[in-house]
Amino acid sequence: MNPKAHEPDSLPAPGPTALAQSEALVAQICAEIASNGGWLPFDRYMERALYAPGLGYYSGGAIKFGRRAEDGSDFVTAPELSPLFAATLAHPVAEALEASGTRHVMEFGAGTGKLAAGLLSALVAQGAEFDTYSIVDLSGELRERQRATIEAEAPELAGRVRWLDALPTQFEGVVVGNEVLDAMPVRLFTRVDGAWHERGVAWRDGALAFDDRPVSAAADAESLASIEVDGDYVTETHEAAFAFTRTICTMLTRGAAFFIDYGFPRHEYYHLQRAQGTLMCHYRHRAHGDPFVYPGLQDITAHVEFSGVAEAGVETGADLLGYTSQARFLLNAGITEALAGLNPSDAVRFLPAANAVQKLLSEAEMGELFKVIAFSRGIDDGIAAFARGDRSYSL
Ligand SMILES: C[S@@+](CC[C@H](N)C(=O)[O-])C[C@H]1O[C@@H](n2cnc3c(N)ncnc32)[C@H](O)[C@@H]1O
Repeated sequence: MNPKAHEPDSLPAPGPTALAQSEALVAQICAEIASNGGWLPFDRYMERALYAPGLGYYSGGAIKFGRRAEDGSDFVTAPELSPLFAATLAHPVAEALEASGTRHVMEFGAGTGKLAAGLLSALVAQGAEFDTYSIVDLSGELRERQRATIEAEAPELAGRVRWLDALPTQFEGVVVGNEVLDAMPVRLFTRVDGAWHERGVAWRDGALAFDDRPVSAAADAESLASIEVDGDYVTETHEAAFAFTRTICTMLTRGAAFFIDYGFPRHEYYHLQRAQGTLMCHYRHRAHGDPFVYPGLQDITAHVEFSGVAEAGVETGADLLGYTSQARFLLNAGITEALAGLNPSDAVRFLPAANAVQKLLSEAEMGELFKVIAFSRGIDDGIAAFARGDRSYSL
């Protein structure tokens, strides 16, 4: 075997150090494929490609988040797009803290720290009372970036921030996670001529390649049989995201947990329209479907199946606080009022802010594809951000 990263012509080539890192990761993955009888399930491959210590996309040195390919980044997220996202999210977070009588915030997958810095400042500006802001991220490498962002943008609040190496068994407070569920490994399945196969990864002709094996486990066969679509089909299942939701909702003894991400309820997810599945890779702001391009240097993601997430949370005894589109959630939470608070004659600040809000809300951009789901314990009444347009019934 001569492990080499797949190098497509159409994407900007990484530098020699990044390529060497990718090739080291491919060598590790090849060794694991060999010791596993020549095949790895896709979720294991995705876990290695994103989180292998020092070499995975999130745990290695890739820049990841940013607005342009020229700055070396691969994709942009809502908190990176506009500070108004964090400022608006602060309203439901503050409301949930008050309604549950809790004083702690915990963020999962904090990226560059933008959301943390923005939430900290906005919570204080809104008069919310809270003691600590804890960050949990699988990526140790991002910790330093998060610390630098918070110290630059909310220096007087940096003392309330802590990074956790392990989850507490119990947490009273408010949990937030933006685009965390989509970064959890998924299993891939294909249906060919009516027979389901699990799509895994093998080493073939000197490269990583998909390799499909007939589904044998009865539990897999049973859950795949419930997917009612005709014809050949490729799709994902989300065991890791469901397990994560169960863990968070079990840990949450009082308070609320908000997750914002792209995806659909089950009946829309497993639909003929998505016959190729939702697996997607991002490299230098180009989206494509090949997870074997520059392993460790590109993001790999899949849309979230929100009915399964809702079931996983509710199974633990938590309440489903709400489920709606990002646009509806942000509008309910006052994003247009936040925009109106900026001076329109200050074109340098106002126009980019207005453009970003349009992106966050537009049906053609993030407003409809992105959803917000929230769970709670000890909050008797609903919260304003779900007051209009709650779609929990659709899950
Ligand atoms: C797409 S990035 C989103 C970053 C940031 N929230 C934002 O919106 O810019 C996904 C983040 O989730 C983190 N992540 C994935 N699984 C996680 C888990 N189980 N616990 C904590 N963080 C996780 C990754 O390390 C990564 O930082």
